[in-house]
Amino acid sequence: MYGSETGTEDVERTAFRKAEKKYKLYYDNGRKKKQPRPVDLSEVLDFKSISERYAQNAELPAGISKLQCDFDRPVFCLESHPGFYFIPGALTIEEQCQWIKDSLTSFPQPPNRTNHNVIYGPIEDLFVSAKQGKVLVEEEPSHQRNGTDSNNDQSTATAPSWKFSDVQSFSSRGEACKSVPASVLLRKLRWSTLGLQFDWSKRSYNVSLPHNKIPDDLCQLSTKLATPAMPSGEDFQPEAAIVNYFGQGDMLGGHLDDMEKDWSKPIVSMSLGCKAIFLIGGNSREHTPLAMFLRSGDVILMAGAARECFHGVPRIFADKEHAEISELELQFSDEDDSFLEYVRTSRVNINIRQVF
Ligand code: OGA
Ligand code: MN
Repeated sequence: MYGSETGTEDVERTAFRKAEKKYKLYYDNGRKKKQPRPVDLSEVLDFKSISERYAQNAELPAGISKLQCDFDRPVFCLESHPGFYFIPGALTIEEQCQWIKDSLTSFPQPPNRTNHNVIYGPIEDLFVSAKQGKVLVEEEPSHQRNGTDSNNDQSTATAPSWKFSDVQSFSSRGEACKSVPASVLLRKLRWSTLGLQFDWSKRSYNVSLPHNKIPDDLCQLSTKLATPAMPSGEDFQPEAAIVNYFGQGDMLGGHLDDMEKDWSKPIVSMSLGCKAIFLIGGNSREHTPLAMFLRSGDVILMAGAARECFHGVPRIFADKEHAEISELELQFSDEDDSFLEYVRTSRVNINIRQVF
């Protein structure tokens, strides 16, 4: 599923990699401080302006059409990519805030897994711990603890256990324990999985891993959002979701999501936070992908033939001028500053799938 992040030497070997390289964040070393390298965005499709112009009765650009359906917002299609749907501004600002908060607080909670599981085992309350300036500290080997602690998927009697602490700890021999600030772990949080858990090492869903069902509110929303792409008379069953977290400079390399059984069912993908560039190509990396902006509140659906198309996110815009999050900032200004601080430099993507 997720291809390896773009390496350096083979970066331009395929048309997809070439496009990733074009949009990826690079820094020019200016004389005073490093500056983001300017990037030509003239070929990036902008569904916000397309839908605004469409609302004023302008014609749609060649290759883009509006889906005839009774969804309560315009749904756009790409003639070059059957099964791909774009719903600009599908989520209200309140919904965006709620999903960002959930993505940071409840979604990464065990038994949901995150990219940190393999190193640290399950981590509880990462977001609040980062806010409180806590440090994750490796505890004494388990024979010095109460022995019942299960801390890691591959846990053995001697597997290390990591716990949040207010201060750096020392072992009984007086050595500083290994530790990492919660704020660093929050910045390095790249994904969490809800519902059926995906085993990245085996590239498949592992139904035997402990999991909770997708929360009801997310089920209801994704079922509604999936309707424009659903085969008629069928229901979308949200069984798994991946939440991706992007900070400045992070990207999601070109990949296919091909581990789900029924490709006629869409992947419902919601964008939150900073604006990003999304690339959708063809069924091999040799096809030159189309680039488009994804803003907070946009939803895309990928079903049918579009499920066989390589796609990825080469870039997010975490700078004030391009992030386009002023409404979100306003909405978050009544809340705890930690959300505001996170959202100013981050993007969150929640994508929901029917697995079987
Ligand atoms: C994915 C994915 C796209 C995005 O998680 O499979 O393609 O917009 N995400 O982040
Ligand atoms: Mn994907």
